Amino acid sequence: MTMSSAARKPLVVGNWKMNTDRASALALARDVAGGSASIGDRVVVGICPPFVYLDAVVRDLQAAGSKLHVGAQDVYFEPEGAFTGEVSVGMLEDLGVEFSLTGHSERRHVLGESDELVGKKTAAAVSAGHGVILCIGETLDERRAGRTDAVNERQLRAGLAGVGAEQLSILSIAYEPVWAIGTGNTATPDDAQSAHHAIRGVIADLFGAPEADRMRVLYGGSVKPDNARELFSCPDIDGGLIGGASLKSEPFLRIALAAAETR
Ligand code: 13P
Repeated sequence: MTMSSAARKPLVVGNWKMNTDRASALALARDVAGGSASIGDRVVVGICPPFVYLDAVVRDLQAAGSKLHVGAQDVYFEPEGAFTGEVSVGMLEDLGVEFSLTGHSERRHVLGESDELVGKKTAAAVSAGHGVILCIGETLDERRAGRTDAVNERQLRAGLAGVGAEQLSILSIAYEPVWAIGTGNTATPDDAQSAHHAIRGVIADLFGAPEADRMRVLYGGSVKPDNARELFSCPDIDGGLIGGASLKSEPFLRIALAAAETR
């Protein structure tokens, strides 16, 4: 699986959230595909368009022979049935969608998803060989109360409860402090590195140190071309999950280039 975390090659993924329309999604995907091909293979690049454009984007990229990875912004854990509005792992795989985000803070805090639901989604996806970027992170109140590492640990233990060690190669973690998302307030490299180090410690406790050492831990939250290099230079930061700056190809590709050049 090409998304696999071999040697923690940096991974940079654009989460488009509920943005673009059909034409602009296709144009953005094509521009990112062209630009990432010229950056080369020192970084793995992916995009997460809205569900409704996944089919068109995947077909277009396949027709162009692109290696750009396409993921969904969420997925449901049941394989089929009476779950109005939900999308299964099998449906995504049917389209050629390789991975999904789970536990994004907007799913947790805007749509009310529990740690347990995020765990079920994560387990269902990886057990079907579908890649996952499991998103975790504390709110501002939790940070102010000194609970950053405790919240991350709780979300990790619940999010990974149904995941086996043999499935870890298609799983990455994204640490996205909620207060840094879409606010322009990026975590300082020191704060991010400290959280990432603690996250790797929890993975080591759950699965062993070698597995923790192989696991990609991405940073997300107001990553921009002018702060990407400093963040990606931290030893435990293996790339980024990019929101606002992924909606135009030029800043997104500069962020991908920064990841390629810092490892
Ligand atoms: P911003 O880069 O817009 O802060 O969003 C981060 C994010 O939520 C990516 O999933």
